[in-house]
Amino acid sequence: MTVPFVDLQAQYRSIKSEVDAAIQRVLDTSAFILGREVEAFERAFSEYVGAEFCVGVSNGTAAIQLALTACGVGAGDEVIVPANTFFATAEAVSTANATPVFVDCDPDSSNIDASKIEAAITPRTRAILPVHLYGRPADLDAVFRVAERHNLVVIEDAAQAHGARYKGKRVGPLGRAGCFSFYPGKNLGAYGEGGAVVTNDADVARRVRLLRDHGSEQKYRHEIVGYNFRLEGIQGAVLGVKLGHLDRWNELRREHAALYRELLAPHVDAGSLTLRRESPDAESVHHLFVIQADARDSLQRFLSAAGVQTGIHYPVPVHLQPAYASLGHAEGDFPEAERQARRLLSLPMFAELTERQINYVAEAVGDYFAGASAARA
Ligand SMILES: Cc1ncc(COP(=O)(O)O)c(C=O)c1O
Repeated sequence: MTVPFVDLQAQYRSIKSEVDAAIQRVLDTSAFILGREVEAFERAFSEYVGAEFCVGVSNGTAAIQLALTACGVGAGDEVIVPANTFFATAEAVSTANATPVFVDCDPDSSNIDASKIEAAITPRTRAILPVHLYGRPADLDAVFRVAERHNLVVIEDAAQAHGARYKGKRVGPLGRAGCFSFYPGKNLGAYGEGGAVVTNDADVARRVRLLRDHGSEQKYRHEIVGYNFRLEGIQGAVLGVKLGHLDRWNELRREHAALYRELLAPHVDAGSLTLRRESPDAESVHHLFVIQADARDSLQRFLSAAGVQTGIHYPVPVHLQPAYASLGHAEGDFPEAERQARRLLSLPMFAELTERQINYVAEAVGDYFAGASAARA
């Protein structure tokens, strides 16, 4: 058996007629950039996450950059970001002309360790950018408490967390603004690039809308210098269709995660395997199912030989990326993020995964640890 890491074809097959019809509508109307399908999706997605406003943009990185700029973050400002996230979180801070300041992650949740944020605050700090990593909401109350004490803006990076709930509320509009990516492999993925900013702040929404389209709301009148960060009509149409399936897909991911946890539990003591600790406050949508193991690389090779595709999210923490060498960080600065980068491994996770496939993956992990303990004996 082979188990792919994700299977976008399986998802397409399950919604083909709806998607094809939606794309056809765009072809028939030639509304290729923004337009009716994008507007309809923006309305539907804002309702879905419980935000007053949603502005579709060209990708998740652009969403973060524009949200920061729209919230007044710019040159000379510092923004607090977790050290273990996809590079784009920090990159968007840099392209918004500000400087990312890294904070280590929590050993249990892998999200930003809110107890370490205060020590990273300087007179230049303007914002905190928590990431709901792998689909699990960050400890937002703790982040909000620090933000309030220091008068900082909180912008959520919800690129991996479409539909996730923190204390019963969907993430995205819980801070001043929330940013989503619709990269094809995400829980809600476009058929190309896509992203969105959601907010309850009318001013922020208006500024993002201006910034995404050359500073213009009215053709050939440009109020500010902006960007071409518009969402395409075909992506709006596809996202509109897929949004109707998101809760069901997220529920399936939840079931898959529960089955993985049940099947992997016996190996937690036997090997060095660690599973993320769940929290009742943070309802994950399991964008990724990430385990940790000391012998991660040999486990990954073993699984690959057994036909199981895996991923590493992410092998190098952001503070150690060559692009941020100028910030002067060294190994040891954020020990937990570095430890996790050496140990984490993402198992196959997507809604269409079958029970048989999950059993096969868990058995292969079990075989690895059985072999490893036999080799030690
Ligand atoms: C946590 C996180 N932030 C930001 C991004 C950037 O999104 P995009 O790839 O749509 O630019 C991604 C996705 O790739 C992500 O996973």
